[in-house]
Amino acid sequence: MRLQGKVAIITGAANGIGLEAARVFLKEGAKVALVDYDAMTGEKRVAELQAEGEAAFYQVDVSNESQVVEMVAMVKERFGKIDILINNAGITKDNMLLKMSGEDFQKVMEVNVNGVFNCTQAVVPHMLENGKGKIINTSSVSGIYGNVGQTNYAASKAAVVGMTKSWAKEFGRKNINVNAVAPGFVETAMVETIPEKMIQTMLQLVPLQRLGKPSDVANAYLYLASDESDYVNGTVLHVDGGVMM
Ligand code: CAA
Ligand code: NAI
Repeated sequence: MRLQGKVAIITGAANGIGLEAARVFLKEGAKVALVDYDAMTGEKRVAELQAEGEAAFYQVDVSNESQVVEMVAMVKERFGKIDILINNAGITKDNMLLKMSGEDFQKVMEVNVNGVFNCTQAVVPHMLENGKGKIINTSSVSGIYGNVGQTNYAASKAAVVGMTKSWAKEFGRKNINVNAVAPGFVETAMVETIPEKMIQTMLQLVPLQRLGKPSDVANAYLYLASDESDYVNGTVLHVDGGVMM
């Protein structure tokens, strides 16, 4: 029960890594607010998770500031405090640079960058009130090394690293730890869009020779959300099987 009594907000929790994180956090004793814009799946998942612990679903587009502010107020009202924020929601709109529309560049930045900004700005005042907090942002190997066809996504995930390090400096003295996880290629819907041939080529770059599982990333979130990481701040934890792209 490494998160006993903690209250966590996890964005992008209706599917993939976020959903697995919600399961792991509930199992470890946290109360979890699952946030996603996919309401149909989110409501279904929360109904399934009720047996595991106290979970609630909030339909929110993280790129919409007023929806985020409203959600954070509702979570505070329901659970009394907010200890942990996992900024996990993210999207891709892959294309080669010369074919990428400005709209697709902008959309990915709005969700992956503005979404993280909106959620963090709304949650931090509650963590300051608590005198403690854990914020975990989700970057990617693409944000660290770059990736063909991912100008928008790689830029957004590099921005996540920059925000993480800035907030670690800004809020460290207030006992709020801010860290990022940079996953490699993980078996979720996001990776299903990649042609199989590319997956095989990419796997040759992974010393562990397999894709990541959602639980590999969820366990990294767990470590960074728990008291075990109280002296870890401003770091980017690579969960990628040792890939060098
Ligand atoms: N390295 C080098 N060259 C590459 C390449 C690579 N990885 N991928 C493609 N190319 C080359 C191709 O060989 C081709 O070259 P020629 O023009 O000389 O023939 C050229 O780039 C164009 O490639 P495509 O024919 O594939 O172009 P397309 O327009 O049909 O498709 C694309 C472009 C949509 C970006 C497609 O290549 C694609 O889906 N790529 C996968 C992108 C990717 O890795 N996405 C990760 C999604 S998962 C995720 O994002 C999670 C995470 O955090 C890691
Ligand atoms: P996924 O596509 O399975 O799940 C993402 C979830 O985010 C979905 O439930 C979706 O509805 C939600 N979401 C998307 N936009 C949203 C918005 N504007 N507001 C609220 N919710 C929104 O993706 P996956 O793989 O679970 O990704 C989770 C995070 O991990 C993302 O930030 C992604 O960029 C990152 N990541 C994923 C990798 C992978 O290979 N799967 C690798 C590296 C990073």
